[in-house]
Amino acid sequence: MTLSPSEHDHLTQQRQHFPALQTKTYFNYGGQGPLPQGAIAAINAAHYQLQEVGPFSFGAYVLVGQETDLTRNAIAQNLQVPAQTITLTDNVLTGCNIVLWGVPWQSGDHILLSDCEYPAVVATVQELQRRFGIEYSFCPLMDTLNQGDPVAVMQEHLQPKTRLVILSHVLWNTGKVLPMKAMVQVCHEANAQVLVDAAQSVGVLPLNLTDLNADFYAFTGHKWWCGPAGLGALYVNPVAYDSLRPTFIGWRGVLKDDQGHPIGFLDDGQRFEVSTYDFTSLIALREAIALHNSWGTAEERFQRILSLSEYLWQQLVTMPHLHCFRTTPPECGLVFFQVKSANPKIHSAVVQALEKQGFLLRTILEPDCIRACVNYLTLESEIDALVTTLKTVLAELVGAG
Ligand SMILES: Cc1ncc(COP(=O)(O)O)c(C=O)c1O
Repeated sequence: MTLSPSEHDHLTQQRQHFPALQTKTYFNYGGQGPLPQGAIAAINAAHYQLQEVGPFSFGAYVLVGQETDLTRNAIAQNLQVPAQTITLTDNVLTGCNIVLWGVPWQSGDHILLSDCEYPAVVATVQELQRRFGIEYSFCPLMDTLNQGDPVAVMQEHLQPKTRLVILSHVLWNTGKVLPMKAMVQVCHEANAQVLVDAAQSVGVLPLNLTDLNADFYAFTGHKWWCGPAGLGALYVNPVAYDSLRPTFIGWRGVLKDDQGHPIGFLDDGQRFEVSTYDFTSLIALREAIALHNSWGTAEERFQRILSLSEYLWQQLVTMPHLHCFRTTPPECGLVFFQVKSANPKIHSAVVQALEKQGFLLRTILEPDCIRACVNYLTLESEIDALVTTLKTVLAELVGAG
């Protein structure tokens, strides 16, 4: 993993693009990535450009349309799918909602979720139950972190009326990377569609969504891709397209005749887009994605993430007052640890103490622990500094050396 001097220079130059990385030791990429300077500048420049053209004008229409196409294409290209399959959204959960409210549910339909799905996704499913009388249940994937086969566990929990299975590609609270292609195949064989929560996979795993073949893949630009908050996307597999109806409807998705009357919907990803949006964020996300690609391929970045997370995990497992859930090195950039303490608020206390010293991590409630995210941008020296500071913080808070 040790970088050659030229590789180290290359990484240092890359990090210079991120103002937040100059003043912070950043381990929260899975919450929100730091925005590169070029993206901030692009937002500013795009606002000026729009004012010069006239915010509501033919010129603006052309400009916004061109930029939207370019970003849709960039997202599609990075995920290896046609651009027409991409719906631009605000974030992960908007994409999940488009799918969850877009399926024409029948009373008695069943949704299967993993037991590690994001609470707001579970809340949406609960609301579907109240409105439409659907059923839902969970399959226990949290316990497959170190042993067991998630495909088999999920399969056992499919029911004859299971219409949709909701799975996160990377489990946000354990870091398990699910064997998604195999899981999708099993679901399809059982006539169930698959909605993937891709909050923690896009920008981390090298992805080919065509090959993965999930029906719906909801993600965001603002986490591992380090784009601006408020811009995400949803991939809808062409084979699943007709099973979804638009719920929120606006001019972006409506098909009109020559008189401007609505006569249906567009027949690509735009169908599920709604109304006026901030086009500057599209340019900023493109800048961020291009910057990552300029450093290395998705595979190269992922390999660096893997070696860095292993480096951190190896140090954490040797600390006597910590417990790491994983018995083998992490499979992605999410690293979790628990502090052995009788204090129920110990994890908040540790995270707050670390933040005071410039180290940004987060707590997780279930399982009760602390999460550190390493990206390819992370330096080994940052990991060393985190471990040293963590030892000091633990010595103060739990008397651990
Ligand atoms: C697994 C998972 N799903 C959904 C979300 C929500 O993402 P967003 O804010 O983009 O809707 C998060 C955010 O951390 C997440 O980790």
